Amino acid sequence: MSANLYRVLGDLKGFSLRNCPPMSEPSGVLMCPPEYFQVLSAKNPYMARHIGDVNRDKAQKQWDDLVAAFAAAGCNVSVIAATPGLEDMVFAANSSLTGTRPDGEKVALISSMRHASRRRETEAFEVWYEAHGYRVARLKSGGHEAFEGSGDAVWHPGKRLIWGGHGFRTDPAMFEQVAEIFKTPVIQLKLVNERFYHLDTCFCPLTPEAVLIYPSAFDAASLELILKIFPVVVTVSEADAVSRMACNATVWRSKTALIQKGSDAAAGHMRAMGLDVVEVDTSEFVKSGGSVYCLKQSLFG
Ligand code: ARG
Repeated sequence: MSANLYRVLGDLKGFSLRNCPPMSEPSGVLMCPPEYFQVLSAKNPYMARHIGDVNRDKAQKQWDDLVAAFAAAGCNVSVIAATPGLEDMVFAANSSLTGTRPDGEKVALISSMRHASRRRETEAFEVWYEAHGYRVARLKSGGHEAFEGSGDAVWHPGKRLIWGGHGFRTDPAMFEQVAEIFKTPVIQLKLVNERFYHLDTCFCPLTPEAVLIYPSAFDAASLELILKIFPVVVTVSEADAVSRMACNATVWRSKTALIQKGSDAAAGHMRAMGLDVVEVDTSEFVKSGGSVYCLKQSLFG
């Protein structure tokens, strides 16, 4: 096993968050408008009840409001043009994982999507990253293994550490390459409940010390890893986690949390922690299994 992959508590012997070097905070986000957004097939349990059921005008309005909320939080928003026929491209987090290497180089690791209907999304993103100074990295794969970018790979705030989810979309073997490409350790978490098919549906770091999770999405060994590293672990109710995808929130610079409106208990915990909370409505996107976090990709530099 490679030295910078952690799968069970025993692997963390000698590991300390304090020893992880600092990681630059994102400089902004990249978003893709919902011009062609629709629910066409049930790639996850959310979608099953909503085939053909997206109100695109409402989705556009919610997306415009989300762009405005990011901007109001002081986050710079860049926009990539939507590709006709790609109904899930609006979920900009999935087709890549962005970050920096220890020497500061900006890297976009291109995903290998599980479902054929999402594979072409990566093409436009590659072009965008190349035009914006990123080194575009590709995975070596036998053609069968999948990696779904920032949906399953989440940076620890402010630290050179990646949390990697697997079980439904991403194959755990891919994290060896992720660790190598970003020169960063990966703590792997196994997802066991198909409602929580991406790590970003049940795991949301709030600050370097605190994380919001939905516990039963993980196996026992993974929960031990989370509890070992984060001094503060806030759990969300099933209603907030499922109906409102509360864990698919995002926190800009450990200061402003953007979260699906109505997630009152989760929002209350965030406020008690001193975060500014902005509630946004992403209900059209929740029909497809996504909310705030996965509607954007983080940009660096
Ligand atoms: N319909 C999309 C899919 O199933 C939703 C992706 C949402 N992304 C996320 N990271 N949760 O692939």
